[in-house]
Amino acid sequence: MRTITTSNELRSALALQREQGKHIGFVPTMGALHEGHLSLVRCSKQHADRTVVSIFVNPTQFGPSEDFDRYPRTLESDAGLLIDEDVEFLFAPTADQIYPPGHSFSIHAGPIATLYEGARRPGHFDGVATVVSILFNIVQPQSVYFGQKDAQQVAVVKKLIHDLAFPIEVEVVPTVRENDGLALSSRNRYLSQAERKEAAVLSKTLVLVRDLIQKGHSAPAAIAAGIEEFHKLAPHGILDYLDVVGAETFRPAASFEGNEEPITIIIAAILGTTRLIDNLPL
Ligand code: PAJ
Repeated sequence: MRTITTSNELRSALALQREQGKHIGFVPTMGALHEGHLSLVRCSKQHADRTVVSIFVNPTQFGPSEDFDRYPRTLESDAGLLIDEDVEFLFAPTADQIYPPGHSFSIHAGPIATLYEGARRPGHFDGVATVVSILFNIVQPQSVYFGQKDAQQVAVVKKLIHDLAFPIEVEVVPTVRENDGLALSSRNRYLSQAERKEAAVLSKTLVLVRDLIQKGHSAPAAIAAGIEEFHKLAPHGILDYLDVVGAETFRPAASFEGNEEPITIIIAAILGTTRLIDNLPL
């Protein structure tokens, strides 16, 4: 594996691969890698000739009161995991490689960025759309790999690729979970032992809502039952939202009819000081 820290060096290394007709797969991450990230890497390794993984904790997608400073940075062990997966290129740039001094342009993600995660984290999806666009332009991959775990991010990235005409295929990889259903996340490490036990409540609530909808209950009835289940299983948890939405627009499913778009159940909750999100496509 080659670890590269500057955009220019990565550009020339990949230009050489492209000249040789190699299909380049790209997995953007913020590091602190776990099995969820590695499942994206394995997907790329399966489909592409060369896999590029980026590790960059992107300042522009964190709000002022969020965890940018304490976000885990574990580059050395991350690199070890990627070597074990036979990754060809690790791109680990410093902030000025991505945002050169004086940079001023950014991407506005549009209406989807005002809902749910976007409403709770103003500017978050603009930051994601901007960094992802910069990385796409540096790497110029044929395919990119994103996790279903961040369903609204998937919707934003798909719309970005469509609207800005990036010549890139998106592969969405299923969420990797612990045995009790908790979706793997770099933020799970912030949970105390008691909170970790309660954290399975997110996936349990999603499964209950999905089962009720599949049995023919209306979305509002299933959500009401889900809210009750959440508070029973996690009396100390705070349920931020639980909703049934269109997977592409994130509009509440109650606001449109029929099969306009696939449906996803989404949840966000706070356990102690840690905010967790999860989702389950129907
Ligand atoms: P990060 O949180 O590091 O996640 C990188 C990728 O791993 C994302 O596509 C995310 O959905 C996926 N992922 C995380 N947990 C997963 C799990 N349990 N199962 C499957 N996939 C999982 O998402 C970001 O970084 C950033 O916003 C980024 C896209 C890199 C832009 O800065």
